[in-house]
Order: sequence, then structure tokens, then C-alpha cells
Amino acid sequence: MIKLHDKYFKKFISEAQIQEAVARIASEIANDLKGERPIFIGILNGVFMFFSDFMKAYPFPCEMSFIKLASYHGTSSTGNIKELIGLSQDIEGRTVVVLEDIIDTGNTLEELHKIFKAKKVKQFKIGTLFFKPEAYQKQHKIDYIGMEIPNEFIVGYGLDYDELGRNLPEVYQLHTHDMINLILFGKPGAGKGTQATFLKEKYNLVHISTGDVFRYNIKNGTELGLLAKSYMDKGDLVPDEVTINMLQAEVEKNPEAKGFIFDGFPRTTAQSEALDNFLATKDWTISATIALEANDEILIQRLLERGKESGRVDDQDEDKIRNRFDEYNQKTAPLINYYKAQNKFYSVNGTGSIEEITERLSATIDQL
Ligand code: IMP
Ligand code: MG
Repeated sequence: MIKLHDKYFKKFISEAQIQEAVARIASEIANDLKGERPIFIGILNGVFMFFSDFMKAYPFPCEMSFIKLASYHGTSSTGNIKELIGLSQDIEGRTVVVLEDIIDTGNTLEELHKIFKAKKVKQFKIGTLFFKPEAYQKQHKIDYIGMEIPNEFIVGYGLDYDELGRNLPEVYQLHTHDMINLILFGKPGAGKGTQATFLKEKYNLVHISTGDVFRYNIKNGTELGLLAKSYMDKGDLVPDEVTINMLQAEVEKNPEAKGFIFDGFPRTTAQSEALDNFLATKDWTISATIALEANDEILIQRLLERGKESGRVDDQDEDKIRNRFDEYNQKTAPLINYYKAQNKFYSVNGTGSIEEITERLSATIDQL
């Protein structure tokens, strides 16, 4: 994965695949035009790498020239094309092959047809290295196509995202985020961890439990672990800054994730804001915050049971449990309004069998 300006791009087409397409297009054109002395016209800037490799692969005598048009801004076509640099030589009566790096909507192509119609050429052909059939809106025939690609923004091998990425020898695709980022919300014992293990399988998400990460660090005696332990053993919350840094590190470990389930985080409004800001740096957002609801007496019974099996100190003593509920009521419950204000808050009945609760959660997620 690479980052250009504010966006992430993932590897998409290798150098070898590109060279194969270039060689193929060069031999197709050579086959058709072997008796001619064509003029190849490259459309700058994007075409420069393709043009150069194409020329090295073209076996017969030919001439070349360039024109420069502009229509793109950011990652979408504006449909507004300007000719910045025009042709210097006379091409009347000549065989002309326009070479493009990519044809997207076809706006540029249409403009090229207009420009060349007036020039009384003998033959007019179009070749493009990349073609996006789903984006194409015109009727003009494209004579030579190197590779058809899906309608996603690409960079590299001459193509840019706001001028960056042209020098990359291979092609990268914009990393789009039809991500599901969930926050599982609820008091200790509500079943967040249990449900997360089912949901992460079902929706192919990465589960990040801040509690589990802390306990892992504590078990391994890391610096973070020792710090966290001093708070957790008392049933207190680990301070925001420590938690946020740790959480970011966990997210960064999974750059290819389809989404995350945050369990036990955020627990304060400051953490929610930090999480939103952090996700925004990647163009990501929280999809939903789902609360698992159950009354305190049920939760206390569940926690005491769990404490017997797991040996978790904070689950073995009713006072500590009540302290955690108080913390939740004071610091975490206000998050409900934070997410309600964003229209992202959902509440699910957290009592009944594990399967029943998973069903209810899935129903909520599927309607997102
Ligand atoms: P069209 O006029 O919509 O066919 O777009 C043609 C021009 O838009 C190309 O010459 C490129 O400069 C630019 N373009 C189209 N798709 C992409 C892309 O995926 N990445 C980078 N530039 C693109
Ligand atoms: Mg271009």
C-alpha cells in the first residue's frame, strides 16, 4: 500500500503485465500499418511512459508528436477539456495514431475526434493502454486496447493523482472503503467480546478489544502492560492517551482490513473524538455503534461466573464490578448521545441465548 496526498493505493498491475500489454498493442498496430509511415501522437502528460515503451516495441519507421489536454481534477473527470499544447507539424494526408494512457468517460477522446476531423488525415486510429468500459459514455470506436480495467481510479506508469504517482513503474488502484466499522457498546458483561468473535467471522472484520490487548501486554510484562495493570486491577479506566495510542497501533497493523469491530473502546467522549479524527485521516468512518443492553443483576451474575473460569481479578469481586458500572454510567454512557447525534446509535437486546443475540446484531448490521 502507498499513500499519495490524502489517499491510499494498493498494487494492482505489475510491470510485467504492463509490458505484456504494451508489446501486444505494438505488434497489433505494426501488423495493421506495416506499409505506412504513421505519426504517433501521444496525449501528455499521462502517456509519457507508455509512449516511450511503445516506441521501443514498435518495429517499423514512424514519426512522433505530442499534444497536451487537461480534463481531470482529483480523482474524477470534469468533462471540461482544454487544449494546452497543440500540434506543430502538418498531418494532412497522413496516417495518425493517437496514443492515450487511459480512456475513462471518453470526453478526451471525443475532443480528439473534433481536433483531428478538421485536419484531413488519411487514417485516424486510437490506441489506449488502459480502458474502463464501465465508465465509457461515448460511441467512438477504440482501435487498440492494452487492458480493460474496472471503473476504479488508478495511478502509476504515467498516471497521476493530482500530479503524484506518475513515476511509479507499476499501477496502483485507489483503496476504496466499503468498510464496516462497528463499535460494540455496553456494560462489562454485556457480551461484547463473545458477540465480536461471531461477527468478525461473519463479516470478515478485525476485532480489536482494548481489554484483550491490555491483558496481552500485561501477561507479557511490556511497559504498556505494567502501566495499564495499575489502573485495571482497581477497576479504573486506563487513561485516554494510553488507550488511544495503543488502539491506533492495532489498526495500523491491519491496513488491508475490510473493517473493524471495536470492543471496549471508545469509553469516553474524548476517545470517541480521537477515534473519529484518527479514522478521518484514512477516509474512514464509524458505520454504527451497537449497544448490547441487559440489566445490572444479570450482568453481575455473568461476570462473577466468568471470573471463576478466567481468573480475571476485576470479575471476581462485586464491588469492583459495581465500580466499573459506575465508571460506565459516568463516562461511557454519554457516548450514546455522541453517536445518536451522528445517527449511528443502535440498541440491541442483550439477553437470551448467544445465537439469538448474534441474530439481532446481524439484523442491525445488514440494514446499515
Ligand atoms: P476521459 O476524458 O474521462 O476519458 O479521461 C481521460 C483522462 O483522464 C486521462 O487521459 C487521464 O489523464 C485521466 N484519467 C482517467 N482515469 C484515470 C485514472 O484512473 N487515474 C488517473 N487519471 C485518470
Ligand atoms: Mg492523460
